[in-house]
Amino acid sequence: MNHEKIIILDFGGQYAHLIASRIRRLGVLAEIMLPRETTATDLADDSIRGIILSGGPQSVFADDSPQTDNEIFALGKPVLGLCYGHQYFAQALGGKVAPGTTGEFGRSEFTQDGKCPIFKNVPEKSVVWMNHVDAVETFAPGFEICGTTPHCATAAAWDSSRNFFSLQCHVEVTHTEFGEKMLENFLDLCGCSRDWSVEKFYQEQEKKLLEKVGDKNVFLFVSGGVDSTVTFALLTKVLGADRVRGLFVDTGLLRQGEVSQVEKSIRAIGADLTTLREADYFLKKLAGQTDPEQKRETIGHAFLDVQQEFFKKNGLDESWLLAQGTIYPDTIESGGTKNAAKIKTHHNRAPEVQKLIDAGKVIEPVAELYKDEVRALGELLGLPHELVWRHPFPGPGLGVRILCSDENFDETLVEKIDAFTMQPKKRPFVQLPIKSVGVQGDFRTYRHPAVLTSIPGEKTIDNLEKFSTKLINHYDEINRCTLLLGKNYDGNISKISVKKCDLSPERVARLQAADAVVTRLLREMNAYEKVWQFPVVLLPIFFNSVGSETIVLRPVDSIDAMSASVGKLSWEFFDRAAKEILENDPEISAVLLDCTSKPPGTIEWE
Ligand code: XMP
Repeated sequence: MNHEKIIILDFGGQYAHLIASRIRRLGVLAEIMLPRETTATDLADDSIRGIILSGGPQSVFADDSPQTDNEIFALGKPVLGLCYGHQYFAQALGGKVAPGTTGEFGRSEFTQDGKCPIFKNVPEKSVVWMNHVDAVETFAPGFEICGTTPHCATAAAWDSSRNFFSLQCHVEVTHTEFGEKMLENFLDLCGCSRDWSVEKFYQEQEKKLLEKVGDKNVFLFVSGGVDSTVTFALLTKVLGADRVRGLFVDTGLLRQGEVSQVEKSIRAIGADLTTLREADYFLKKLAGQTDPEQKRETIGHAFLDVQQEFFKKNGLDESWLLAQGTIYPDTIESGGTKNAAKIKTHHNRAPEVQKLIDAGKVIEPVAELYKDEVRALGELLGLPHELVWRHPFPGPGLGVRILCSDENFDETLVEKIDAFTMQPKKRPFVQLPIKSVGVQGDFRTYRHPAVLTSIPGEKTIDNLEKFSTKLINHYDEINRCTLLLGKNYDGNISKISVKKCDLSPERVARLQAADAVVTRLLREMNAYEKVWQFPVVLLPIFFNSVGSETIVLRPVDSIDAMSASVGKLSWEFFDRAAKEILENDPEISAVLLDCTSKPPGTIEWE
């Protein structure tokens, strides 16, 4: 079925995916396209009912500011411009944008004049979320101003004859009080009947899969995570268990008890699962490796070795297709995250897999869905609640949560003297002599984490996160900030040691034990579903010569993993987790809480 659609031209940043997932939740299929590569002809199809110009991090004055084919404005379709899209709209059609100096960030009071239909059932005054420096000075002919904020006299405008709507605010963020209402009104103005839902996707996917797979059989690697399990369940339901073979690889890098848990829940849905016990193989291949990308690559190659060995032994020939649980954000090379592939190598796009993709031998049945939609599909397929709502877990597993080092060294903390002022440097933190990955301005950074030994100001996660952002913005060499939650050493930090180590079975077991404490407490304290993901990370460092490793807790709130904030759990939770981890294992020198949002930190540490 050819669904009615809204196209979002992705001018960068994280906004486009957020807009698309909001619109889909309102029952209309939304798809993302790249402005530079999209022409008016591409958008001419009748099924495309409206166009949204997304926000983006750039200024319209930048040399390489994203542009699109302005003939799209002559298609006669409703268009909604948001933030950068609002300014682009004005500039493209003959208005004027003025470069700003101070900007308007976060909460703002918006007043609308009651005339523009995009504000139907929106009060005269409401809170909107702003994030801009430049502002529209004059709109294009045909537009009239319909909304203002105290800082921005050109916050909203519309052209009634062409159904063009232009808003400086971000309607897609939940902080904009009536943002969803405004999007709903736009869909009405586009004449959308709301013909999209996960149920309909399922019905259509059934037909598509039968056609695509033909008389072939399908195998897939199941990680036990939501995406691959839902893919497995969907394929099993549509093709029958005898044509779908799931391979679950015990890489030795899974969480405690995970192998039996995954086997049990997948067998409960009647699917054909084979567990390949390959922990020794993976850990042997990883021996001696310390570089994050090399580890990832080794894990990816080991997966393929295991797969090929499986084919040899089981006589599966080339007539089998490979299925993967790739989801929508992984498949879209969006405007603002064009470098995403370089930020981290994605498992589902390893070179060998890419060869199979190019040969048409890969099917990715949930590639059009967002995570929340994959979960809804999982529920529709009758998967157990606990499985559907499991936290996402990376393909390389604990392999990316165990940091390694190729050298031993100690750093004694002495007061450093500033070379210019000759005064002792006063820093509110301790800098760790290791590096972790971050993402700043869409580029991968590899910089030092900081440790705060106390909370500056009020003891709230919010405050801590804000302080962390300020600190990272201020110190170039820092891209992550943590708080010291608990320690096994006495006194203040006077020495930090880094231990030469790789990914050994002992270290895996150490992390598994700490991770198991966190998972159990999350369940016991009814907090598991209060965070989106909760990596527990092992660092090869220790303080004041006590213990040999450090644990980091990394709870995050997110919608799609592309941006994240610190998970808002209680201090009681963090204190209990730190206390238990330290009591259980005297080798743990300290427990840290990662209080960095994404950006500037990534969710995982490497
Ligand atoms: P980052 O660390 O980039 O992670 O903020 C975003 C999301 O992706 C997961 N992740 C991975 N998943 N292979 C995967 O299958 C990987 O190499 C990988 N690295 C990160 C991460 O857990 C988070 O949900």
